Amino acid sequence: MKKFICAANWKMNKGPKETEAYFQEFLETTTRDEQAHYVFFTPTVCLGHTAQCLKETNVRWGAQNSYFQDAGAFTGETSPQILSELGANISLLGHSERRHIFGETNEEIHDKVLALQKWNIPVMLCVGETLEERDSGNTDQVIQNQLTMALKDADPSKEIIVAYEPVWAIGTGKVATPEIAEEAHKTLRQTLEKIFDVKKAQEISILYGGSVKAENAKSLHEKDNIDGFLVGGASLKVDSFKGIFKAVK
Ligand code: PGA
Repeated sequence: MKKFICAANWKMNKGPKETEAYFQEFLETTTRDEQAHYVFFTPTVCLGHTAQCLKETNVRWGAQNSYFQDAGAFTGETSPQILSELGANISLLGHSERRHIFGETNEEIHDKVLALQKWNIPVMLCVGETLEERDSGNTDQVIQNQLTMALKDADPSKEIIVAYEPVWAIGTGKVATPEIAEEAHKTLRQTLEKIFDVKKAQEISILYGGSVKAENAKSLHEKDNIDGFLVGGASLKVDSFKGIFKAVK
C-alpha cells in the first residue's frame, strides 16, 4: 500500500509571521514518522520562512506554481532553479485556480512539468472537470486530456503525484462522493498506464482534493485508488488539518 499523503494548499493565505506560528504549533504535536505524510504549498513569499521552519524535519514543502523558464525577464514569476536553490522538494502545478483565473493552458502546464523535472523537483499535478463538463458527460475526456497533455514526454524515473480536484468541489463544501472520486481516480490510473506503464501507474499516488475535512476523509480514503488528499480551507488551521490525518489512521 502506498504511503498516505496529506497535502496543504494554503493558496494566498498567511504571511511570514503566521507561517512561522503555524509550523511551530504543527511541529510541536507531530512525530517525525507522521511528518513524512505531510506536504505544504505555502505562498511564494513565505517559502524562505517555510524552508527555515521545516529544515531538519521530514515534512515536504514547495511552491503552488512554478514557471517553465530558468531565469530572465518574466516579471512576477518563480523558476524551478530558484525553488531548487531554496530547497523546495515538490511543486504544485495546474491547480484549477491557475487554469481558470490565470488562464493557464495544458501546453503551459506541460512545459512546467518538464522544467521542474529538469531541476529534479517532483511535481504534484492537478486535474479536474468543471460542473458544466461533468453535467455534459465529459468528465473522463477532460481529465484524460489534462493528464495526457501535461505528462507528454515526462520522465517516468522521476516522482510524479496526481491530484484529482473537481472544480465544483473546491472551496464549495460540496465534496465528491467516494464513488464519484473513485471512478475518476480509476480513469486517471488507466490513463497513467497508457502514458507510462502499469508499474509506474501503480506507483503514482493519486490524491483527491475538494472540500476535504476530517468528517469526510475516512470514507474517501477507504477507496482503492484514493491515496491521500490535497486540502485547501481545512489546512489553514493545524487542528483541522491534522484531524484529517487522524481520521484515516
Ligand atoms: P478546498 O481546496 O479544500 O478548500 O476545497 C482544495 C484545493 O483547492 O486544493
